[in-house]
Amino acid sequence: MEEQKRPGDISRVLVTGAAGFIGSHTCDTLLESGTTVIGIDDLSTGSLANLDDACRQERFSFHQADICSEGAMKEIFNDFRPEAVIHLAALVSVPIAEDNPDENHRINVLGTKAVAEAAASSSTKRMVFASSAAVYGDSDHLPLSEEGSTKPINQYGMAKLEAEALLLSYEKSHGMIPTCLRFFNVYGPRQDPSSPYSGVISIFASRCSTGRPVTVHGDGRQTRDFIFIKDISRAVVASAINPALPGGIYNLCSGRGRTLLELLEALKEIHPEIPAPLFKEERQGDIRHSLGDPSAARTILGFSTATDFAEGIRKLQTSNQ
Ligand code: NAD
Ligand code: UD1
Repeated sequence: MEEQKRPGDISRVLVTGAAGFIGSHTCDTLLESGTTVIGIDDLSTGSLANLDDACRQERFSFHQADICSEGAMKEIFNDFRPEAVIHLAALVSVPIAEDNPDENHRINVLGTKAVAEAAASSSTKRMVFASSAAVYGDSDHLPLSEEGSTKPINQYGMAKLEAEALLLSYEKSHGMIPTCLRFFNVYGPRQDPSSPYSGVISIFASRCSTGRPVTVHGDGRQTRDFIFIKDISRAVVASAINPALPGGIYNLCSGRGRTLLELLEALKEIHPEIPAPLFKEERQGDIRHSLGDPSAARTILGFSTATDFAEGIRKLQTSNQ
């Protein structure tokens, strides 16, 4: 999968959620490929500091706006006329979405509709959407494949599934090419470890680098399919700018499950002195095992992960220093 722009590639891309963890890396990767980028974010959880590098580039501009405002979205789309949109803005916390189902629906479903309507109004054809492994729920049929059943067990997963269906309907009704990428557990620099709802790797890495013990919920033998941020941003960018790639639904995962105990071993390689972990009860609603099947993304999008786990953890720890 090439993220370098080739002749015929799309050259103007709008990114929602640009100031967030995945959004800011996506903007950087787009800019590295020579694309002109406009970033949208309401800065509710994102930070402009994440866009320091992007803001130094002439081909980048930023607009603070709420994706739920269809009027504001249409104005921005009609001014900028992007050829593709990468829609990442969302209410991303599973527990907050659970406690605030109406807000979850407003941002994750209606906000997605507002972005799609604005894209349709400015004839933007390609739309890449950040979906989630949460659409699968707690399945026994591993690895999880796109053709398998989707049974989300929380509000967040339900909203992502509804947003996927909504976007796929724009293919028929508006001739769009929607690509729904189901991210598994993404980790890497700029994932804010200060939030209790942050990813387990950023929380553990931050605690280990300051000599504090980590808290393991359950026995630590639950597994996750972790994928490094740069692999995600490469796949997202290629799906947006390569007009030869078809739309559809794809897992973005490594295809390798790892336990939290293995994660701790990898961190011990870097911090041999870390204190013993504290074990607490399992989190309510936790999925026991999550493992994706990466073969559709490999065969159709030409995507494979380039960063191995130990290397990804090292890169994260270097960025934390
Ligand atoms: P993030 O919180 O760092 O980024 C989300 C961004 O969206 C933030 O900058 C926030 O300010 C912005 N935003 C929120 N509501 C908005 C609104 N109404 N209008 C404009 N901007 C708004 O989270 P992230 O981890 O970068 O997630 C990006 C996307 O990937 C999300 O759609 C998330 O659901 C999806 N995803 C992430 C993971 C993961 O492991 N991080 C896994 C599966 C799916
Ligand atoms: C993650 C995503 C979620 C996505 C889902 C898809 C994050 C923050 N969440 O949820 O958006 O929908 O994948 O499957 O990326 N844990 C500890 N100690 C901690 C923190 C976590 O033991 O301090 C455990 C959790 O209980 C869980 C595992 O680590 O068993 C992973 O947790 P987390 O990183 O929050 O991700 P998911 O719950 O898989």
